[in-house]
Amino acid sequence: MKLFVDTGDIEEVRQAAQWGIVDGVTTNPTLISKSGKGFKETVTAICDILPHGDISAEVVATNYDDMLKEALEISSWRENIVVKVPLIEPGIRLVRTLSEKGIRTNVTLVFSVSQALLAAKAGATYISNFVGRVDDISDDGMNAVAASVEMIHNYGFDSEILVASVRHPLHVVQAVEAGAHVSTMPFKIMQMLFKHPLTDIGLKRFLDDWNAAGLKVM
Ligand code: G3P
Repeated sequence: MKLFVDTGDIEEVRQAAQWGIVDGVTTNPTLISKSGKGFKETVTAICDILPHGDISAEVVATNYDDMLKEALEISSWRENIVVKVPLIEPGIRLVRTLSEKGIRTNVTLVFSVSQALLAAKAGATYISNFVGRVDDISDDGMNAVAASVEMIHNYGFDSEILVASVRHPLHVVQAVEAGAHVSTMPFKIMQMLFKHPLTDIGLKRFLDDWNAAGLKVM
């Protein structure tokens, strides 16, 4: 499963990139607005930190012609950019156009299998299925993920299901169980994946014993 960081914070990307396990970054207009920097400046800096990663950057227009102009502009910034497109009617039309031009897309704000089907048929590279925002309204956001993964396999679509709106490590575990292709998460949640109290206790015991015996590596 690919792991993406969901952030517009260049420093977080820099830190996460050092781990060598991050496959990309997802941004959205809210995250970019929190970065305190310009859109192009932020996205290109992230692309340069992770040159082999997939970096999603979202269009903000909502009519086809302007969405297309923005998509062509954004995709010209770096080769590793994936154009993020909301799941609205002109968005699906745009995904089809971009897919025919060989420009990769990430269809966002997807909450249902029927929406995922439209994105897959249009040729989306990634389909961002939001889970946390569904859990927030007392439903189980992971249901649509599991069903969409099954749909992709049953019909042989090329799209990858990307679990987004991840709020805690259990969402990542559930994404694995559902067979999702990608999970994107805030930097602090990726840090939490490292944590296990028995790891900390075990390491302390190993080091205490080692030091008590006065041993050295070299
Ligand atoms: O980037 C899309 C998504 O991950 C947003 O998450 O926490 O705002 O629902 P959230």
